[in-house]
Parts: sequence; structure tokens; C-alpha cells
Amino acid sequence: MLEITGLGHSYGDHHVLRDVNLTVAEKELVTIVGPSGCGKSTLLRCIAGLIAPTAGSVVLNGTAIDGVPDGLAVVFQDYSRSLMPWLTVRDNVALPLRRRGLGKGERRAEALRALRSVGLEDAAAKYPWQLSGGMQQRVSIARALAYRPSLLLMDEPFGSVDAQTREDLEDLVLRFHRDEGMTILLVTHDIDESVYLGDRVVVLARDPGRIRKELTVTLPPDRDQIATRADPAFVRLRAEVGRLVRGGAADGGAADGGPADHLASE
Ligand SMILES: Nc1ncnc2c1ncn2[C@@H]1O[C@H](COP(=O)(O)OP(=O)(O)O)[C@@H](O)[C@H]1O
Ligand SMILES: [Mg+2]
Repeated sequence: MLEITGLGHSYGDHHVLRDVNLTVAEKELVTIVGPSGCGKSTLLRCIAGLIAPTAGSVVLNGTAIDGVPDGLAVVFQDYSRSLMPWLTVRDNVALPLRRRGLGKGERRAEALRALRSVGLEDAAAKYPWQLSGGMQQRVSIARALAYRPSLLLMDEPFGSVDAQTREDLEDLVLRFHRDEGMTILLVTHDIDESVYLGDRVVVLARDPGRIRKELTVTLPPDRDQIATRADPAFVRLRAEVGRLVRGGAADGGAADGGPADHLASE
């Protein structure tokens, strides 16, 4: 459903992305992992139609992207700027549902249902600025899920929540992916998370940002926070992705040049 061909992006003369080629099939959950600053957010913004790539093309359902397409939802890394401060939490979640042609009552009911799924039903009447960062992030996730997009783009969506909530939200995303057949492209700098969530993991290298390798995740589709992470296949994949992200070859051989990349948390 998504076809990225020869995509490149430069900010002025800073070449951030070069020759990115990636295809995402309907109902797939693809994770993109890479070191900080390698161009993950830039890639997602190009796919969302928020910035125009300086080379190549993004085609969604057969149509070249030119502006933000319908049926697409984005959870931004910078959640604090993505909610409307003058709307209540419930109205923030309900707002995009107008585009789905729902009446006011239905929009409110759907918004409450989505807030319940992220554990924030009690915050419905509050304003975003009355919530902690982690809670605001959960509101952004609820808003995206309520919209039931055909393609969901998520940029480090669990960055500022505590560990327990993070696991709950990871499993919530997996549930939407499985039960609603939602196609999801999720960016993370967390190696474990990229393997735990993905049907496929795309590892990016930096300077310039490009695809280092794509790995198919050979784990059963039903994931479990304890059992999956203890699965030898998970442990093996995590090590392989870790080596690739740090700049080495997947088989543990020689690095393909440059200093070892490091993962900085943002
Ligand atoms: N709006 C912008 N203008 C200029 N440079 C930018 C802009 N956004 C990002 N960059 C630069 O592009 C590179 C990639 O950024 P980004 O896509 O945010 O990486 P990531 O999300 O992987 O951390 C970084 O060097 C960053 O400083
Ligand atoms: Mg980013």
C-alpha cells in the first residue's frame, strides 16, 4: 500500500536521507530503528506529506503523496505541540473524527472509548496542559487510534511514559494492528521495541540516513511481554539489530565504516 522509491531529503546542503527504498504491504507492522539524528522523523514527515522530499517519491495506495492524505494518522515525537490547548482532552480526540463523517454523539462516544483504551477516561474533561507529558502522549495515541486510519505513522510514540505504561501501550498497538488490520509504520530508537512490535524491522544508518538492512521478524504474531522477550529467536534478532544499529555487519563481521553509532535517548 506504501511504496517509497529513491527517496532523498536535504535541509539546505545538509543531506539527511539518501536513496531510501521501502515497500509496506497492507496490514503490515513495520518498525524503523536507527540512531538519533539519522533521519527517522524526516522520513516519517515525508511519508505523511508534511514535507516534500528533495528526491524520489512516496506513493500511497497508487497515488503520489502531495500534502497530507486522507486515512492517515500520525503520532508525533513532539506530542506537546500536537494537542490543541483550548480543547478538552475528549474534544481533542473527537476532532479528527469529523473527517470520518460521524455525528457529534458518536464522536464523543468513540473518543471516550479510545481514552479508556489508554487508561485516561477520567481525564476526558481536562485540558492537555493539566496533564503530565506521558499522559499527553497517551492522548495523542488515543486520538490516532480513534480515527482508525488505514495507515498509522508513529514517531517514537512511547518516549516519555514509564516502563509499565510503555508495555501496555505497545500491546495496545499490537491489538489494533491484529484486530483492526491497521497498517502501521513505527519509528523507534529502542532496539528491543523494534523487534517486539515489528513484523519487519528496517534498520537505518546515518550520515546520510539510508537503509542498512531489513529483517523479517520470525516470531509468532501473538507477542507477550515476558514470553516473547525470552524467546531465543527474539534474543538473536535483538543482537543482530543491535549490531546493525551500532554500525557493524549483521553477522558480527567488520563494521562498514565510520565510528560506531550510538543510541542517544531523546
Ligand atoms: N527542520 C530542519 N531543518 C534543518 N535540519 C533539520 C531539520 N529537522 C531535522 N534536521 C536535521 O536532520 C537530521 C535528521 O533529523 P531527524 O529526522 O529529526 O532524525 P531522527 O528522527 O532520526 O533523530 C539531524 O541532523 C537534524 O539536525
Ligand atoms: Mg526523531
